[in-house]
Amino acid sequence: ELKDEGKVGYKAPSNIALVKYWGKKEGQIPANPSISFTLSACATTTSITFKKLSKPTGQYSFDLLFEGKPKPSFHPKIETFFKRIDPFLPFLKHYHFNIETSNSFPHSSGIASSASGMAAMALCLMEIERMHLPAMEEDLFLSKASFLARLGSGSACRSVEGPLVAWGNHEDILESTNLYGIKYPFDMHPIFNNYHDTILLVDKGQKQVSSTVGHDLVNGHPFSEQRFQQAHSNLTRLKTILKEGNVKEFIKVVESEALTLHAIMMTGDPYFILMKPNTLEIINKIWKFREKSGSHVCFTLDAGANVHVLYPQNEKEKVNQFIVNELVAYCENRQYICDQIGGGAVKM
Ligand code: PMV
Repeated sequence: ELKDEGKVGYKAPSNIALVKYWGKKEGQIPANPSISFTLSACATTTSITFKKLSKPTGQYSFDLLFEGKPKPSFHPKIETFFKRIDPFLPFLKHYHFNIETSNSFPHSSGIASSASGMAAMALCLMEIERMHLPAMEEDLFLSKASFLARLGSGSACRSVEGPLVAWGNHEDILESTNLYGIKYPFDMHPIFNNYHDTILLVDKGQKQVSSTVGHDLVNGHPFSEQRFQQAHSNLTRLKTILKEGNVKEFIKVVESEALTLHAIMMTGDPYFILMKPNTLEIINKIWKFREKSGSHVCFTLDAGANVHVLYPQNEKEKVNQFIVNELVAYCENRQYICDQIGGGAVKM
């Protein structure tokens, strides 16, 4: 028996990959395994008010407010998402949904909101499912939420839990699966507690290349098989690094992963350069600073020009000073976001 009406809400964070997911197969199956830090400040908050339809039409019925205003350009994305998850949520066509969603970060910041957005939406829908199946175990709830989020946007499956999430079959992390993200199942050295991510907004424009185009380009890419193998071996390396707290090796894996993602884009057909001159200025400044100060600050990149600056809690003051004095000048309007590793989505 379906409930007549109700309201659910979740706040889900963004995440930053250490080993990158780039390339996918049919059904949002990743071509290689990935691992990410869950963030905390960059998040999407979504609430869904649901009401039973007296006469279901066989279509999806929803309204959407983004930051308080209607946003018709989001409708096709949600329609596609609903279609993909329909087989797993039998109630979808029986309700009218009022979806209200907003991001903690500025809209045109060049920060992708698909991971946090799809995770928040998936969790809200799972909460509706749980109202009908109150005996559901928490583990099942979380993995199914991540499973649904994956069908919205691959990397979104890593935005349900925290602080570290693995996704994709891997020979040395047997719990990890292509179908949903899992909380990293091994102990992590305390040096990674409260790890910081300061996001430098180098280019706040519309993404030059959508991730759909990016993933597509990996299919048939001349270096793709090598790349997939490398992701596997980088995850194996990280397993020891995370356990032992070897920040020097951590830096090597993380920076190399970022540059490889960009190298794949540069050597594809079509080819793209997603960095901006200021992206490179920042990378060079980070390398110089590391050399002269002995700091363990490093960078990573997503498929865009913004730079994520990663550093341990015990270097916070020193690195913050460096960022403000030397890096912020390369940001668009001097804008940046201070974030850090977080514990995952929360119910609102
Ligand atoms: O979730 P998608 O399809 O938008 O892919 C995003 C992939 C990267 O952010 C570039 C890397 C990653 O693993 O998050």
